[in-house]
Formats: sequence, C-alpha cells, structure tokens
Amino acid sequence: MSLVIFSKVHKATPWLEALRRAGPDIEVITHDKIRDNEKVFFALAWNHPKGVFKEFPNLKCISSMGAGVDHIMEDPGIPEKTEVVRIVDPLLSKDLSEFALAQVMNHLRGISNYRMQQAGKTWKKRMYRRVSEVKIGVMGTGAIGNKVATYLQRCGFFVTGWGKNPAKPAEYERYHGKAQLDNFLKQADILLCLLPLTPETKGILNKQTLGKLPPGSFLINLGRGQHVVDQDLMQLLDSGHLSGASLDVFEQEPLPEDHPFWMHPQIQVTPHVASLTTPESVAPQIIENYRRAMSNRPLLNRVNKKQGY
Ligand code: GLV
Repeated sequence: MSLVIFSKVHKATPWLEALRRAGPDIEVITHDKIRDNEKVFFALAWNHPKGVFKEFPNLKCISSMGAGVDHIMEDPGIPEKTEVVRIVDPLLSKDLSEFALAQVMNHLRGISNYRMQQAGKTWKKRMYRRVSEVKIGVMGTGAIGNKVATYLQRCGFFVTGWGKNPAKPAEYERYHGKAQLDNFLKQADILLCLLPLTPETKGILNKQTLGKLPPGSFLINLGRGQHVVDQDLMQLLDSGHLSGASLDVFEQEPLPEDHPFWMHPQIQVTPHVASLTTPESVAPQIIENYRRAMSNRPLLNRVNKKQGY
C-alpha cells in the first residue's frame, strides 16, 4: 500500500525519511518509483504534474505538502471521490507570525532604507512610528490568519482581521464579507494578506481595494502572488498612495528576471520563505491521515473542494 510523493520542488530525501520514521509499516515512495498504479492510495503533493491523479483508480486522498492547496485545486483532473487535505502545523503559523513581525518592524524602523543609505555612505535619521501607533489589518482569519493576528495583537499593535465569513470573537477586532471590506481597509496602516487563493480572492488586492487604504500605507503579501494585480500595485506605489510593499509570493515563481518588482525601490522581494514546511514536524499528521483514509475515517484538515480551501 503506497503513499506517494509528487513534487517537482521539494528534495525527496528528508520527506521520505520523516514519513518512514512516522509510519515505518507504510510503503512511502516518490512518483518515479510507482510500479503499479492500482496500489497508489495516498498522494503527498506540491506542484504536481497536472492531470496525473486521474491515472490512479484507488487514490483516496491528496495531501498538500504545505498550508496552501491552490496548486492542487487548480488541477481540473482531481477525481471526484478523492479527498483533499492540507497541513495545519503550529510551527508554520509561528514561522509566519515571526516573518510578518520582521517585515512590519523593517518597515516601521526603515531598516531597508538605511541599508540603501549605507551604499551612499549617507548618515540621515528619520523619525519612526511606534508599535502602539500602528494599525495592522490582517486579511484572512482562518487557522493561520487567526494565529498571526493574535500574535501581532499581543506584540502591541492594534490589529483587525477580515475574512469571508463571520468568525468567533477573537482578541482582535473582526470584520467579514464584502460589505465590511471598505471599513476594514480604510483604517489599516499596514495590510497583511494571508488569504487562501480561490477564484473569489484572485486579484483582490487591486486599484479599488488598495486605493481604500489610508495614504502612506504599506502592503505585506504572504498569501499568493495571484492575490495582487501587479500593475495596480505599481501604480499606487508610484503615485505615493502606498509607501511600500513587502512581497514573499508572486504570480510566477521564481519571479522572472525581467519583472519590474525586482528593481522597484519601494518593493522588498523575498523568495517565498515566510514559512517553510519542516517534514519532521508534519509527517505525523500526514501518516495519521493516511491511516484514516485507509480505514475510511474522517480526515484531519479536510479541504472543502467546493470552497477551494
Ligand atoms: C506555503 O505557501 C504554503 O502553502 O505552505
């Protein structure tokens, strides 16, 4: 019985080792080692070859290798009966929270600006805004967004969150739905995007929405590149409405060499590193889902295929 890794991106060895340690009785292989398609029961995927899952008649479940499942859901060839699950890992949320804090502080204290000044041996001080004076709006208040918003609130920021649906009360103020989006946006000095990518959220960071932010506000995108309309973002930066942006995710990754984001003085580019999945940390939940799938028990962190997350 096989658990098969489908990924063009991840190095297989650490995953194979961690999964074999967590489930020594289970056959774990990479997809190039498949000998019998009928014996593939569980797939672990990141940017898999599209359409490939149709070839496995007994595939019960596809697990993402990370928190996002957009790379799976965009494949029209996911068999109807195959469940999709994602990773929910406290370590991932912690890493994301700390990365978000680093980007916020870098912006507030102008660290990148001083690095540029250093290149010209310029000694020039600028006043900064203190944590207690800054409002952060977190878009996406699901499992991850909620953790990050709570973390930032506890660091002393004034945090609000926005999600598609009403959610339980939290330590920070919550907004939801299209009707409350403008009120959420118009008071966010820093907008932090942690939304899942779905047909509804694609392009949600555009001229209209970003234009509602207060003048001089700052965007941090740790969701997906497709949330941003690149052209609109550049226009709002060039007009001075936005003071800058820190982007960790891009429509095309790696970001193409000729993309204008690379050279834009107000854009900080990082190569999708806000949180990296640690195989050791997530192998137990993948193995648990394998066992659940094999015995037809309810799966952990199941994706609603209609909703797309
Ligand atoms: C990273 O982007 C993830 O989805 O885990």
